Amino acid sequence: MASSNPVARHYGSGGIADRVLAAVREAKGADAPLTPENLAPFDHFHGRGIVATEELAAQLKPRLAEHILDIGSGIGGPARWFAAHCGVHVTGVDLTPEFCAAAEALNAMAGLTDRVTIIEGSALALPVPDATFDAAYSQNVIMNIADKQLFYREAFRALRPGGRLALSNLCAGPAGEPYFPVPWATTRDTSFLATPEEMQTDLLAAGFEIASFCDITEAMRETQRRTRERLERGDMPRIAVDIIMGEHAREMQLNSIRTIEDDRGVAIEALVTKPAP
Ligand SMILES: C[S@@+](CC[C@H](N)C(=O)[O-])C[C@H]1O[C@@H](n2cnc3c(N)ncnc32)[C@H](O)[C@@H]1O
Repeated sequence: MASSNPVARHYGSGGIADRVLAAVREAKGADAPLTPENLAPFDHFHGRGIVATEELAAQLKPRLAEHILDIGSGIGGPARWFAAHCGVHVTGVDLTPEFCAAAEALNAMAGLTDRVTIIEGSALALPVPDATFDAAYSQNVIMNIADKQLFYREAFRALRPGGRLALSNLCAGPAGEPYFPVPWATTRDTSFLATPEEMQTDLLAAGFEIASFCDITEAMRETQRRTRERLERGDMPRIAVDIIMGEHAREMQLNSIRTIEDDRGVAIEALVTKPAP
């Protein structure tokens, strides 16, 4: 049954794990092992794919055996990558039931069920105890969150004192709202972009200290331009957004790129910490 939550309805569809599996087989061959690397083009559901996840990891600096929370874990690509590359245990929480089912199926296929746990639930009422995690990250999720202060307060609650939170987020640009549909929202009803200043204010209000806060929009422009040209020429390889969002994926990708090109979106990477007593 389809979720009653409009954000989950935007994302959810059946058979995602099978579609990812078929895409890996087509791209890498029938016998290719289902490693996080082979899955990566198809299971990191955010702009710039695995490169963006690697940047997030470089900020977070996970240490061996740490317990890490992935808030809005999607179909689990980043969680599997962190678990396999950093030797950590990742708990992923996501709102979309079909994404959680796909993440669990792909964890099993990748042999990572002991290192990646998926819980269906909301970032606004994280189904985890207080002060449990050494670190957390959230990649391209906050755009769907209207109550951002509650989102940050919940992340703060879940972290142990001294814990780190790495964020990748699209903020509001000065030139107006995004062009819809975009990969994170079909209409403005489920898209909530705050300005970078509001993001910092909300993080501080939740109790975080800001270790770094970088606008990476300029650095992304060249990659975005090349992606737009390939999409327009029709020679862009299929990636996660195509497999997950289906027929509207190309339009969504082009709108997302135009949103950034036209100063309607500002890409932020941030690292914040929960102060130790
Ligand atoms: C663009 S996808 C990114 C998925 C994943 N972080 C990645 O980078 O591959 C956004 C994700 O946020 C999740 N999400 C949105 N609002 C949420 C909420 N309130 N609680 C938990 N997850 C949420 C969606 O279900 C979706 O999986």
